[in-house]
Amino acid sequence: MSEEHFKNVISHAKEYGFVFLSSEIYDGLAAVYDYGQNGVELKNKIREYWWKSMVQLHENIVGIDASIFMAPDVWKASGHVDGFSDPMIDNKDSKKRYRADVLIEDYQEKYRVKNQKEIQKAKKRFGDTFDEAQFVVTNANILRNNKKIAAIDVRLKEGLESGALHLIKELIEELEISCPVSGSKNWTDVRQFNLMYSTQMSATDGDNKIYLRPETAQGIFVNYLNVQKTSRQKLPFGIAQTGKAFRNEIVARQFIMRMKEFEQMEMQFFVSPGEEMKWYDHWKQHRMKWHLNLGTQSSKYRFHDHVKLAHYANAAVDIEYDFPFGFKEVEGIHSRTDFDLKQHEQYTGKKIQYFDNEKNESYTPYVVETSIGLDRMFLVLMSNALQTDDLGEGQTRTVLKLPPALAPYQCAILPLVKKDGLPELARKIMAELSLDFNCYYEEKDSIGKRYRRQDAIGTPICITIDHESITDQAVTIRFRDSMEQKRVSILELPAIIEQVVSMKTLLRGLL
Ligand code: GAP
Repeated sequence: MSEEHFKNVISHAKEYGFVFLSSEIYDGLAAVYDYGQNGVELKNKIREYWWKSMVQLHENIVGIDASIFMAPDVWKASGHVDGFSDPMIDNKDSKKRYRADVLIEDYQEKYRVKNQKEIQKAKKRFGDTFDEAQFVVTNANILRNNKKIAAIDVRLKEGLESGALHLIKELIEELEISCPVSGSKNWTDVRQFNLMYSTQMSATDGDNKIYLRPETAQGIFVNYLNVQKTSRQKLPFGIAQTGKAFRNEIVARQFIMRMKEFEQMEMQFFVSPGEEMKWYDHWKQHRMKWHLNLGTQSSKYRFHDHVKLAHYANAAVDIEYDFPFGFKEVEGIHSRTDFDLKQHEQYTGKKIQYFDNEKNESYTPYVVETSIGLDRMFLVLMSNALQTDDLGEGQTRTVLKLPPALAPYQCAILPLVKKDGLPELARKIMAELSLDFNCYYEEKDSIGKRYRRQDAIGTPICITIDHESITDQAVTIRFRDSMEQKRVSILELPAIIEQVVSMKTLLRGLL
């Protein structure tokens, strides 16, 4: 996927009502976006797929919806007031600010891209006899590149974990990393910036600073006792939640990839101490399955172990997707130990434990977390789905090949002409189908143009009502991906559409 493709994704998202810049008529607000009429439908469907797969398909996972505002001490206990910051560096010539660790990771990515090129070249050369596993452990260039990547990892980790930020700057200088804008290597020192937004809770009280949550997870931790007691769940069990989070991302870039206001879908899985690594592996595999179940090529995804662990984690891995700007995190799976519950226990003075009947003892559960950004997932799907099909004879079509179960509209209802009773019959069909599906009604322009517009927003099925439909009570349906058309009875429509767009079928793939 190229930068060019990414530009197309951004302009397509705007042109077809998926994503708009926030407050655009006021020239926009950097790194804040609004979802349009089609975007909100896609976003709702992604959320539904996530929620059903986590909550509905797991009898030991329940959901909650906690508030964005929380008692300010929550963020002291969680470590966010003191530790939720990014190491930033400024380029003195362009005046642009970057995350220092990301600059270094981008540098490493160039070596990974080189490795991929070596593999592709060898694949072509050796054809069917090519053994990739063997090749990557024997090819001299790949071995050299991997050695460089690993050596940088060690130094980056050392700098980040010790807090000796001058080590990071030295690494940037040594690797001769230059500013992507000015091209110069004229850097400031590396400094830490806290990412939390704060506001005032009341207008009268003096000391009333309150934070906008930077992760939804804490709403789950502070409700652990409430939910465990009222749901009567036994370990291991999970609490899931979707909702907005806010981060003052200094370097907001790449469209909805890094926003200041975004949505997370998180699940905290509470387990007995000592079982966390087993569950960490389980959720790692399960979450990757969730992604691949959407039909995306497996080569577009990979795991990436964290170099630097967050203050609460003893193991962490990202699920990364191959964006046009390289592999980047879509989801994180973290083994958070008992850090959060213990901290809240300490700050509140309240016992936050689990009584294990079998062991006849109380203890603080350990937590394995899965945390995915809804907006990033949206970007994955848009980037992966937007295609230009060659139709031959110099003709092309732009089509959004979204997983049918997630498409904003499941079908479009298109009377061939605006007269002769066709709109009336079309409206009747629409009224019935709308009870089950989100249907798009359109009678303007040629049928070809209308098909193209539906392709562009990813509608899996178009239904055309023509003059014969009045007498034979049949319509032509056209499938988005194959462009195949067939004549079917109006009565068959609900079953045919359901078969194509069924969330149930999608979820079944996870069993
Ligand atoms: N509770 C753990 C946690 O918040 P994280 O890795 O900081 O972990 C989880 O965030 C996910 O949230 C990321 O994998 C990403 O998809 C999404 N995310 C984080 N910051 C984001 C931002 N500024 N804009 C959009 N999505 C973001």
